[in-house]
Amino acid sequence: MRSINNKVVVIGAGMVGAAVVDAMLSLCLVSEIAVIDRNVQRAEGVALDASHTTSFAYSPNVHVHAGTFADCADAQIVVIAAGTSVQPGKVVHDRLSLAASNAAVIRDTMAEICPYTTDAVLIVVSNPVDIVTYVAQNEFNYPRDHIIGTGTLLDTARLRRLIAEEYAVDTKNVHGYILGEHGDTAFAVWSMVSIAGVSLPDAARIFRRPVHLDREALVREVRQAGYHIVQLKGYTNAGVANSVGRIAKAVMLHERSVLPVSTTLTGEYGIHDVALSLPCVITDQGIGQVLEIPLSPEEQEQMHQCAERLHTVLQQLDI
Ligand code: LAC
Repeated sequence: MRSINNKVVVIGAGMVGAAVVDAMLSLCLVSEIAVIDRNVQRAEGVALDASHTTSFAYSPNVHVHAGTFADCADAQIVVIAAGTSVQPGKVVHDRLSLAASNAAVIRDTMAEICPYTTDAVLIVVSNPVDIVTYVAQNEFNYPRDHIIGTGTLLDTARLRRLIAEEYAVDTKNVHGYILGEHGDTAFAVWSMVSIAGVSLPDAARIFRRPVHLDREALVREVRQAGYHIVQLKGYTNAGVANSVGRIAKAVMLHERSVLPVSTTLTGEYGIHDVALSLPCVITDQGIGQVLEIPLSPEEQEQMHQCAERLHTVLQQLDI
């Protein structure tokens, strides 16, 4: 049984890793954060900058420091945000273009982690997160349920925000999922979307707002959001870092919250040997249960399209 010490290790001190450190501090649940990067100076800078927030934040007096992989030995959570990311200005934006390079990065990273722990919950951020999560879960002797890919948790947050704006309500009152690939085949489970418990067919009447949701346009906007933000500010970090924070909170507090995250499917909807996002029960051990929720025939077809796209990449990389 792992000792619960609220220690988090963040691997990768880039724009995402630095934002993850901030998100962890804002949880007010963490006692220690170790920041690891090949660029040790950058890891030190991220940690030092973050440490100066502890006199303002209403968090415990967190020990934030540059670390090494040895820090994983007593970590409760290890966040993997190492590797390259989608770059602005590129004509073709596709997270899958990062698959070969970041598959190598995750292999190197897992090889460094495994000698120190197989107990920590690993939260995988590096893109393409479904491919990277699959490699981490299937190429190392690390308990699969301890590994969580951020997957479409961020896409789901983006959809909920867009719907909340349409109905002028708190985003936290919108429920629903984007599932499948964190990428260009992600899809919405419209049959499960509700606003404060009100199903979509009744929402316009109940909220007295003549809303007509252009469902295809909303999904297109969610799929493109990451690329759009990269074009605007050069990278994305806030959304995904807070997705990591949400997962970390559920792990640290053994919430048993249901979150759409990426994991290797083992027969759900007839799909095997590929990581995709499904609603999962998150516990202090990681993924407690994968929920094969009811999907319409169209939604199941979309899930299979996600699987086929990622299977193709796995085969191309001989994974
Ligand atoms: C995004 C990155 C995390 O969508 O893929 O912001």
